[in-house]
Amino acid sequence: MLAEMGLAPVWRLKNRETKGWIPLRATVSGCTKCALHQTRTQTVFGVGDENADWMLIGEAPGAEEDRLGDPFVGQAGKLLDSMLAAIGLSRQENVYIANVLKCRPPGNRNPSPEEVAQCSPHLLQQIELVKPKLILAMGRFAAQTLLKTDASISSLRGRVHRYAGLPLIVTYHPAYLLRTLEDKAKAWEDLVFARKTMQGL
Ligand code: URA
Repeated sequence: MLAEMGLAPVWRLKNRETKGWIPLRATVSGCTKCALHQTRTQTVFGVGDENADWMLIGEAPGAEEDRLGDPFVGQAGKLLDSMLAAIGLSRQENVYIANVLKCRPPGNRNPSPEEVAQCSPHLLQQIELVKPKLILAMGRFAAQTLLKTDASISSLRGRVHRYAGLPLIVTYHPAYLLRTLEDKAKAWEDLVFARKTMQGL
């Protein structure tokens, strides 16, 4: 009856209010759970298609991301965009990009375990909302954190892992590729592997 009248039951509205993108964005932008809130310019939530099949996860915002509020907007982001384009993807369509941490660690130092522990629930909620078919973990930090391992990127590449019940593939971080051109071919292999895996899902 309520549905026929175009009204949602109250419990559903409540569910939407506490579980959707809007409350999550508000929670992240006001987050003070770790000391990074004292040094950030702003939080860097995530960007892209909120119903994407692909979810790409990096480490943490850098200086440009902290300044502009979106992930991967610096040089590494430009490389990421062109790698995505090479497999027919773009951050506007069917791709969602987020980081393990939503705030910039000062001086681009590695995130601490405490920061990761406090920030991980935000990422998990993003994954729940996007419901991607496949996650691409970019770089050693994202891969090791999500998979809870110390293993090297090279030993984690080329296989399908699982995170939060979803297939996860590991590749190099675009910033690393900017410094290590010889590994670009391997990153390309990873993307082709990821695309093939996606096609089989
Ligand atoms: N490196 C990351 O891991 N994430 C960004 O958003 C930018 C650089």
